[in-house]
Amino acid sequence: MVEPSGRRFSFEGRSRTAQPGETLLDSLVRDGLPNLQRSPRYHRPRAPFCGIGQCTGCLVRVNGRPNVRACRYLPLDGDRVVTENAWPSRRFDLLASFDVLFRNGIDTLHGFRRPAFATPLFHRVVRRLAGYGQPPTGESAAALSGPPDVREVDVAIVGAGRSGRAAAAALVAAGVHPLILERRAETPPLPGAVVLAATTATFLPPRTGGPEGTFEMLAYGEPAQGVLVRARRVIAATGSYDASLLFESNDRPGILTGDAALELTRRGRPPPFHRAVLFGSGDRARTLVERLGDHVSAIVAPGEIPPELVSAATQAGIPLYPRSLLRTAQGRTRIRSVTVQSRGQGTPATLECDALLLAHRRLPNGQLFFQAGARMSWRAGTGAYYPVVGEDGATSVPGLWAIGSASAALGAASVGSGERVASALTGGSVPVAPLDRVRPDGPNELEGYYRELLRAPRTGRWIACPCEDVLLGEVEEATRNGYRGIEVVKRYTGLGTGLCQGRYCLPDGLLLLSIAEGRPPTEVGYITQRPPVHPTPLAALAALDASVSAPEGS
Ligand code: FES
Repeated sequence: MVEPSGRRFSFEGRSRTAQPGETLLDSLVRDGLPNLQRSPRYHRPRAPFCGIGQCTGCLVRVNGRPNVRACRYLPLDGDRVVTENAWPSRRFDLLASFDVLFRNGIDTLHGFRRPAFATPLFHRVVRRLAGYGQPPTGESAAALSGPPDVREVDVAIVGAGRSGRAAAAALVAAGVHPLILERRAETPPLPGAVVLAATTATFLPPRTGGPEGTFEMLAYGEPAQGVLVRARRVIAATGSYDASLLFESNDRPGILTGDAALELTRRGRPPPFHRAVLFGSGDRARTLVERLGDHVSAIVAPGEIPPELVSAATQAGIPLYPRSLLRTAQGRTRIRSVTVQSRGQGTPATLECDALLLAHRRLPNGQLFFQAGARMSWRAGTGAYYPVVGEDGATSVPGLWAIGSASAALGAASVGSGERVASALTGGSVPVAPLDRVRPDGPNELEGYYRELLRAPRTGRWIACPCEDVLLGEVEEATRNGYRGIEVVKRYTGLGTGLCQGRYCLPDGLLLLSIAEGRPPTEVGYITQRPPVHPTPLAALAALDASVSAPEGS
């Protein structure tokens, strides 16, 4: 029965209801994991992948506004939601014929140069094929261009996870009332602090005549509200996320990150799958086994499986495949099995499943630090850059602090790092415990894994960048043609230029290029992170104009 407070909206013309606290995606997965998108070049079916507002698998059109993330959007009464990027429908998309016709990829750089008269036609087809959705309707664009809500605060905290909340609570106790910006739609209030939920944050570039010693950020919240934040100090508690993985058909619907599996099953919701193969062996994999129980049908790991996970899996009767390569996924509109192979050329095995959960590697959300120009250091163990921080979490940028897993603090240290920064900001008035657990560094297990995987003969599509449908073969060809370094390869192939801003493709891209170029990942470089690091409607940026306009008298 529908609760009286449930919100009624339509999805592709059919009436649906979202219960209090349910996102659009929560409401849709009650009928199973939906295929909501088509990929931008080959129109391959895509479904939600990350569940945390970072990929492109759940984009829909709401009331004439394109590219709204279903996993972050709380539907309102009367919303009209439709899918996009498919013709005539998401289930049967004629443009998917390009996936079959162009098995080796569409060469959008050199294609159809000759005969010259065919080039304009080729461009028209490619434009029709590419991209995400159609421009917004006039009405929806107008709704987006309202003036931003301007907030001037002493301390802004980006992220309301464990460390962000610990920092906020300690600050409130010391008499400082922070503003918290959190991407989740469902975020509990914190007495003494202002919490803006479903809100992303990005630094605006410093401008001539702008306020001295103050950060300006554009926060963008649902539904359609720009927020201009001016803060003297910013604490970034942006957390970490589960990475993607390269194998054949790695973009199939039903392949989910551990984040997505946890998000979709929060508050006791049943998972939208019955038999999931879990790839990974660390703490994250253990958390998933505990949460999902008999919905996990096998555990595959690139290396050895630690005894704690072995005993949890044995108790639950889950078969284990340690030291194995994940070679390929089968199934077109939904994954139906995966092929794995013991490392060292063992015999391949096919595992039937209706989901594959990736929980092998957690990466820091470091975009804000890059964007602010903070000094970063490479940690080989995770294969990612972290901000260089002092004991109290101060970065190299005055006024910017890093805490929690984005700063390599782990477990209890996440809370400790939040309290520590609050103490530093309030002149030592918050008592702090010693910071005892920081993520240890070590060799990267995935590098050897990829070396072995990529030596084997390959077939099918390997998607290096799912947002832009860039194939692994295109990246390899660029390297063979002499393009070196990630920035150059990005410009040539489009790798890392999609809506996720490289969160999912760059970490693997760095490892691949490091292997292909025969030099360490740190020499392969990194791409420049420019604002906005989260997709933000142009109308919201344009509406900022008056609020950040030129200084008085000009
Ligand atoms: S599933 Fe919503 S953005 Fe990834």
